[in-house]
Amino acid sequence: MEIIRTVAELKAKLDEARTRGTIGLVPTMGALHAGHLSLIERARRENDTVVVSVFVNPTQFNNPTDLATYPRTEEADAALLENAGVDYAFMPSVEEVYPEPDNRQFDLGPVAEVMEGAMRPGHFNGVAQVVSKLFRFTEPTRAYFGEKDFQQIAVIRKMAQLEGFNNLEIVDCPIKREADGLAMSSRNVRLTPEQRSIAPAISLVLKASLVKARELSLADTKKWVIDTINAFPYMNVEYYEIVDAATMQPIGEWSDSATPVGCITVFCGDVRLIDNIKYILK
Ligand code: PAF
Repeated sequence: MEIIRTVAELKAKLDEARTRGTIGLVPTMGALHAGHLSLIERARRENDTVVVSVFVNPTQFNNPTDLATYPRTEEADAALLENAGVDYAFMPSVEEVYPEPDNRQFDLGPVAEVMEGAMRPGHFNGVAQVVSKLFRFTEPTRAYFGEKDFQQIAVIRKMAQLEGFNNLEIVDCPIKREADGLAMSSRNVRLTPEQRSIAPAISLVLKASLVKARELSLADTKKWVIDTINAFPYMNVEYYEIVDAATMQPIGEWSDSATPVGCITVFCGDVRLIDNIKYILK
């Protein structure tokens, strides 16, 4: 594996690799865990060349403390990537990705206005900025994203459509969970041992709500999820929305969507955790 720090070197390597076959890109912000590795394994299976970017993108953080405390574990990340059979690890500096301020405002529309978009103003514009740059730097055949950030995938698809990345396949990959159900996240390391033992309640309650959904209205199912999670110590639900998987718009009745997805954000202490579940009714 080669660690690459500059855009020029990355482009040169990938121009050459492209003559030999397909390129799979896995964009990450580092602090790699088994969730990332599952994306990388899939990229490895499906492509001739695999490039993983490790870049904590400042433009997508609307909270300076969140940016400052975001875990950075570059050496460990490089070792994991090497072990996973990655060809190129792109680990650029902020100046390399943003030689000048990126003032682009993407017209991402309704998919970016709800949930994370409403709670974290500017977040999705920052994601669109960096992912569009990464797509331009790497020109991949496929790019891999985890479904834990369910709304993010819809936003990236919208950005790709706006920017004309038509020949690039965006591959969504299922959430990877710890044995106790907690969705894997780089933020999980910030939980205290006690919080860590309580955090799996999020996924357990979401799972139990699949059964509740068969007998309760959508509004009552939402309320049940929020109340049940909030009853645990440290837990504070920021939002729980049940949305249509394609439009990301909240629905009022189960019959409003053939693909309802429940998207949740919970503060466990001061750690913001997200998760989601697909409801299959009937
Ligand atoms: O999901 C993430 O880790 C980030 O939002 C991404 C897609 C790598 C962009 O910085």
